[in-house]
Amino acid sequence: MPRPTLLQTRTLPAAVEARAARDYAVRRPEGPDRTLDAAALLAAAGGCDGILCAAGDALDAKTLAALPESVRIIATFSVGTDHIALDAARARGIAVTNTPDVLSVATAEIAMLLVLMCARRAGEAERLLRAREWTGWAPTQLMGVTLERKRLGVLGMGRIGRELARMARGMGMEIHYRNRARLAPEEEEGATFHADDESFLAACDVLSMHIPGGPATNGWLNAARIAALPRGAIVVNTGRGTTVDDEALCGALRAGHLRAAGLDVFAGEPAIYEGYHSAPNVTLLPHLGSATVETRDAMGFRCLDNLDALLLHGGEPPHRVA
Ligand code: DGY
Repeated sequence: MPRPTLLQTRTLPAAVEARAARDYAVRRPEGPDRTLDAAALLAAAGGCDGILCAAGDALDAKTLAALPESVRIIATFSVGTDHIALDAARARGIAVTNTPDVLSVATAEIAMLLVLMCARRAGEAERLLRAREWTGWAPTQLMGVTLERKRLGVLGMGRIGRELARMARGMGMEIHYRNRARLAPEEEEGATFHADDESFLAACDVLSMHIPGGPATNGWLNAARIAALPRGAIVVNTGRGTTVDDEALCGALRAGHLRAAGLDVFAGEPAIYEGYHSAPNVTLLPHLGSATVETRDAMGFRCLDNLDALLLHGGEPPHRVA
């Protein structure tokens, strides 16, 4: 039996690439490792049975409609699927899979890192040293806020949100959450559910955002919702950049309504809203949520498990989202 042909759009961890090469005829686009636009993707997809893509690869409705008949499955190396037009995939009968669970702890760690950096002004402090401007310890220099007994508001209490809540509980924070549905009592572990935005936002000394991208969440954190946060609140986003109105967030940081923001994701990545570059109270990370050796291996293996299920064994992929 000839091995199925797999278009692998990005460079992946070595162990993942080795397993893919063992079981598939792997095709890689020419040139440096980069997000593929529609033209490059279609040019590379001819005759492929499956596509192993990543966040940022353009798989909108038009591109999906133009994919060759041979493509039966798209396995994305991400939990987020906002870069793939799922309805168009369903219409074409192309299975789409993602990588849930394995990145929850790593992403929650980055959220906690941002919470800590914002609360303790670590970015500003590091820049001070690198600029060789530190003149020595001072009683009132770079004072942040203590997180113990502060309220953490988790927007989107899925797997990542719950991992963050677990970490924050260990630091003595009080947990509040807003979610499509209330968790079962044993899953809440003492967290307070809010049925509306108003009471939730008023309870956030720190707001951590974990909602997916897409039309339903575009610009969710807008000027009105920011105004509903307590003065001095911290905002952290490790979900998708599109869920934040950047102008409104920057304005609130400049005006002092918000103490700080920590952002790992941006609308239009890798470009970043210009205002963030000059704001001292913003910590910026280049979409590092799942970037640990362990997690990226696990994500790759999860992609291959999904591809194998359909292309090698003719079964149902375990993490099918469309
Ligand atoms: C994800 O898995 O969705 C991460 O954000 C990487 O894209």
